[in-house]
Amino acid sequence: MRTISLDSIDSTNNYLKKIKKPADDVLVFAKKQTGGRGTKGRSFICEEGGVYLSLLKLNPCSAKDSFSIMMNSAVAVVKTLSAFDIKAKIKWPNDVIVNGKKICGILIENVFEGDTVARSIVGIGLNVNNPIADEIRDIAISAKEVLNKELQIGAVIATLVFNLYQPTSYGEYKRHLLYLGEKVSLTVNGEQKTVILEDVLQNGNLKTSEGEVFSSAEITLRKA
Ligand code: BTN
Repeated sequence: MRTISLDSIDSTNNYLKKIKKPADDVLVFAKKQTGGRGTKGRSFICEEGGVYLSLLKLNPCSAKDSFSIMMNSAVAVVKTLSAFDIKAKIKWPNDVIVNGKKICGILIENVFEGDTVARSIVGIGLNVNNPIADEIRDIAISAKEVLNKELQIGAVIATLVFNLYQPTSYGEYKRHLLYLGEKVSLTVNGEQKTVILEDVLQNGNLKTSEGEVFSSAEITLRKA
């Protein structure tokens, strides 16, 4: 694996997307990002003190198993936080939550070739020592706030990268999932509805107790 460390970049995912024919996996991390990207075209605030990294993995799995990349990355973050005494859970599909607030967002960008994922860029933004902006204070939290002390960024990155290369099972992902069997609010085509989250299937789709099945691209989930 090649590792690149940067002081500042628009987005570590963008950086890796520009590498057209990587010979090996590539890890890039930056002290800050000026144009951090989130899922569904949203932006992601990235002040100094957080972990902002992207890992380009070559041939991680078959196309039909692509949800395993989301499961693996979310579980890797949960295990990493646990190594620093922070209990975290996963909000489907792969937000990482502590005390009801988001501590980490993950943006996965895959390149499919035939029936395989030829490469996957796993972008992780983890709030560690960075300040939380006022406008997201109600919904976001940092490790520093949870522990009342700063963590060593290098140690967090090393633990996270180690965990990103550990295998993860579907059962392990589900053990860390929030709201299974509980009422949740879904936004479907701009409309809100309250349902019971019956299951998250192995392909990553969410199933409600009424038997409806949704992909994460179709809906947004919130606690009811
Ligand atoms: C989300 O919560 O919507 C996903 C946020 C993902 C942020 C990370 S930070 C490192 C990588 N580079 C980006 O531009 N985004 C991801």
